[in-house]
Amino acid sequence: MPAIEINELTKVFDEVVAVNKVSYEVEEGEIFGLVGLNGAGKSSTILMLATLLRPTSGGAKVLGHDIVRKKNEVKKSIGVVFEDQAVDNYLTGRQNLDFAARMYGLSKADRENRVNELLKTVGLEEQANIKVKDYSGGMIRRLEIVRGMLFYPKILFLDEPTIGLDVQTRRYMWDFTLETNKKRGTTVFIATSYLDEADYLCERVAIMHKGEIVTIGKPIDLKASVGGKVVSLKLGKGTQEKFASMIEQTGWVSNIKMDDLLHFSIKENGIGIPDVVRYANRNGFYVSAINSHTPTLDDVLLHYTGRRADE
Ligand SMILES: Nc1ncnc2c1ncn2[C@@H]1O[C@H](COP(=O)(O)OP(=O)(O)O)[C@@H](O)[C@H]1O
Ligand SMILES: [Mg+2]
Repeated sequence: MPAIEINELTKVFDEVVAVNKVSYEVEEGEIFGLVGLNGAGKSSTILMLATLLRPTSGGAKVLGHDIVRKKNEVKKSIGVVFEDQAVDNYLTGRQNLDFAARMYGLSKADRENRVNELLKTVGLEEQANIKVKDYSGGMIRRLEIVRGMLFYPKILFLDEPTIGLDVQTRRYMWDFTLETNKKRGTTVFIATSYLDEADYLCERVAIMHKGEIVTIGKPIDLKASVGGKVVSLKLGKGTQEKFASMIEQTGWVSNIKMDDLLHFSIKENGIGIPDVVRYANRNGFYVSAINSHTPTLDDVLLHYTGRRADE
């Protein structure tokens, strides 16, 4: 049985179709990434799967439980870490975790053990008795994440878990997520607009765009589908489109995309930057900047959405 089965899941807000009849499955024990630009429909999806938002139509099963009819069963088996802060600023770190543990019905002894273990795991032992209002952003995030993992959920939903964090804390969160997944077999469903995060963590990634899933697969396969090498170049003002249509006809390139730069994949091995520059010069174009790199998930996103994540 898959951990999550999504079937024609749809959410409509007034005029906006936030999630448009999507269907896919997440395997048990998998770290699955839902990636896309702002407004793609990631948070709406995750809120529905966590039973916090009612689908307009279609549905999903989480560990076999229907997200509309079996809300309580779903809630009991999941942990959530969302964009909006869920901890109480006027309680200490320890009190926050203890409070959450009570809500999950842990006994007093279990609570103490578990809370201490988690505080240690995220390096908040020394700050355990300080009020959260005096924590840094990174400390709050660490507290939120372990709060989501308090009772060893079978599935952990993370929505933009490292937004606004410094590099070191991000790394830390990533490794903690990987470790939890490995040790406990926790299925992780993570929505993120950071493609490096998805690449580092996820076994499979779905790219969501305007409410739809445009592609789904292992990061390595998605990158390979974009081509062997991606070239980005800057040309003289107003000449980019003309150059694009010319080079397209050579048959060397594919996946031509344009923003302030022109990007394409090189189809043939052996063709590189010098060949592109020579081709441009010979045809009267001026290349003011050029680079090439092996594809990243950013290139995959650009390929499927026509836009980059940082725009
Ligand atoms: N509560 C809401 N009311 C109205 N529109 C919403 C609401 N939540 C999300 N939307 C809209 O739905 C679309 C998808 O949003 P969201 O699921 O938050 O995407 P993402 O998490 O990928 O950025 C956006 O166009 C957003 O403006
Ligand atoms: Mg979101």
